Amino acid sequence: MAKRVFSGARPTGRQHIGNYFGHILNLIALQEEYDCFDCVVDLHALTTLESTATLQQDVNDMVIDWLAAGVDPEKSVVFVQSHVPEIAELHLLLSMVTPLNWLLRVPTFKDKVKMHPENVNYGLVGYPVLMTSDIVLYKGEVVPVGEDQLPHLELAREIVRRFNSMFGDVFPEPQAKLTEFPMIVGLDGSGKMSKSAENYLEISSTPDEIRRRISTAFTDPARKRRTDPGHPEVCNVFSLHKMFTPRRVVEIETECRGAGIGCVDCKKLLAQGVVDYFGPLRERREALVREPEYVRNVVADGARRAAVVARQTLEEVKSAMNLKS
Ligand code: TRP
Repeated sequence: MAKRVFSGARPTGRQHIGNYFGHILNLIALQEEYDCFDCVVDLHALTTLESTATLQQDVNDMVIDWLAAGVDPEKSVVFVQSHVPEIAELHLLLSMVTPLNWLLRVPTFKDKVKMHPENVNYGLVGYPVLMTSDIVLYKGEVVPVGEDQLPHLELAREIVRRFNSMFGDVFPEPQAKLTEFPMIVGLDGSGKMSKSAENYLEISSTPDEIRRRISTAFTDPARKRRTDPGHPEVCNVFSLHKMFTPRRVVEIETECRGAGIGCVDCKKLLAQGVVDYFGPLRERREALVREPEYVRNVVADGARRAAVVARQTLEEVKSAMNLKS
């Protein structure tokens, strides 16, 4: 039997190029080999959300982008965390076997306390317990994550070991699978592309938006005049060329170094590459937007399939804990 993959992503709405290379492409590759559960973790979003006004829209936009990119709901179970309420019960049970001091030393928790001392709610402390519950409710064995999530995964493993040693082997110990992908730089050259830095480009942008956004992107700061030679190795537009115009990248590098091509033209080439690259995705997305019923069915069917597994696990957990005869 194929191993079970559980992957979770917070509902961040329309996906950007960083999400695409860091997460979505991975889901598409994994679905060929594994038994994949792709979950939109809307409850996790509540730990830091000030308002839920756009939550439904964000969940929906993310799912549509996944489907448009090629996540196949016949191969993967695509669902929303809160649609399977068993998660809340397992979270409660696991909270009883998780020492508070394990949670208080989690680096992401400490960071959040530092950043928002006024907003340290009970749910935030339990974030890793909820994450563990996600994984083990579906008996996830492999969990694709970025490096920043490794402490959470280590904690999940500790909770699993503790539970299993107290109540018997119910859960497999989940393994992190590091998602290796080239870091996608933001358009402002400030580092990683991210929603909060507002330096992102959405994969569903129209060709006009793509051209406009890329025309304002930062390039090699040392290249002040058109005649100055460029330094592709420090230019974020060049690093995007590697992804979107792979066949011309050698030529562009040479031209840039020799001042044969200017930044304006270089950005036009990149914009065209991005427009072409996401063309088919944009078309599929438009078709999906015209069929809201189909998308609703995908997540409803995902929730049904996920719930079958969730109920079974919870039965086992409750018997193991003597909550059920
Ligand atoms: N904490 C993860 C993140 O911020 C999201 C997440 C929630 C998750 N539950 C999960 C990831 C379970 C993997 C498995 O990216």
